Amino acid sequence: MKNELTNDILKVLYTEEQIRERVREMGEEIAERFAGTRPLFVGILKGSVLFLADLIRACPLRCDLEMMAVSSYANATKSSGRVRINHDLQQDIHGRDLIIVEDILDSGNTLAFLQEYLKAKGAASITIVTLLDKPSGRQKAVSADYVGFTVPDAFVVGYGLDYAQLYRNLPYIGILKPEVYES
Ligand code: XMP
Ligand code: MG
Repeated sequence: MKNELTNDILKVLYTEEQIRERVREMGEEIAERFAGTRPLFVGILKGSVLFLADLIRACPLRCDLEMMAVSSYANATKSSGRVRINHDLQQDIHGRDLIIVEDILDSGNTLAFLQEYLKAKGAASITIVTLLDKPSGRQKAVSADYVGFTVPDAFVVGYGLDYAQLYRNLPYIGILKPEVYES
């Protein structure tokens, strides 16, 4: 279906159906791993919201949910390396098992920062779940415990991921046409 959003997409990487199936599998794995415990999901705004909403529904556990908002990108396609907290946790996490839910692990700056930050706040364990992993972008030694898909070295959008705040509402994940961000 052509519309003003899909016109800017060079190529679809993962369809709605592929994402649904993969998220369901990840939910089952996480539910098995955390069975009998009460983990605290920490969704990272804004990119993770679509993934988070689907993941926790695929994960029938007794669990809590918090959101954090961090930023390191000022409308650019490369990380600045600096991470700032724009919205922090609203509860004590001392002794809790945390499950960080991210949209994409790219340079690793965001998750390296969050791991340190949440460890310092007394988390008992930190598990990283990322919908996408882009190993070619890595600057910090961070790896995720659960990865939805490994993506190539291109700027990807959709299913929560944005470019300059647009395209988050695409139901699939695609590569943006370079002319969109070069113009
Ligand atoms: P880092 O580089 O800190 O990235 O691992 C974390 C955040 O950067 C954003 N990011 C992207 N967003 N397409 C996007 O829409 C991409 O290809 C991309 N790479 C990094 C994203 O918000 C992520 O949470
Ligand atoms: Mg993000």
